[in-house]
Amino acid sequence: MNNKEAKALIEEGNKARKNAYVPYSKYPVGAALLGKSGKVYTGANVENAAYPVTVCAERVAIFKAVSEGEREFEAISVVTDNGGSPCGSCRQVLAEFGLDIIVYIADGEGNLKQETTVRDLLPESFGPQQLSS
Ligand code: THU
Repeated sequence: MNNKEAKALIEEGNKARKNAYVPYSKYPVGAALLGKSGKVYTGANVENAAYPVTVCAERVAIFKAVSEGEREFEAISVVTDNGGSPCGSCRQVLAEFGLDIIVYIADGEGNLKQETTVRDLLPESFGPQQLSS
């Protein structure tokens, strides 16, 4: 994926952030997940008065994609005000669908803060391979 494509994915994540429902944290997060089909699935965090029921932006994007039949992914952008990193639960859910997924972490101005992979974000992960032997 070239710089221009990465920038476009970050832009889509930033746009998705506008739909974040964050009355409690006031910390909007947006994600844009690129499937191997070329389709992009976006997500934003959706909070709840019962705090733990909140769902992160990344998981909204993944669940949208998988529930629409896509299971293989190239890359995901994660956009926050300050370039925050994906939480552990989202790393685990991403790992289920590929350790090689590229992760672009960006801030609200669209600046790329870090380019990494799910493998690097979640070393020695527990995944489908552990259950298949
Ligand atoms: N959040 C995400 O959407 N993604 C992450 O990876 C980290 C945290 C959300 C959850 C909550 O709505 C807010 O950010 C503050 O934790």
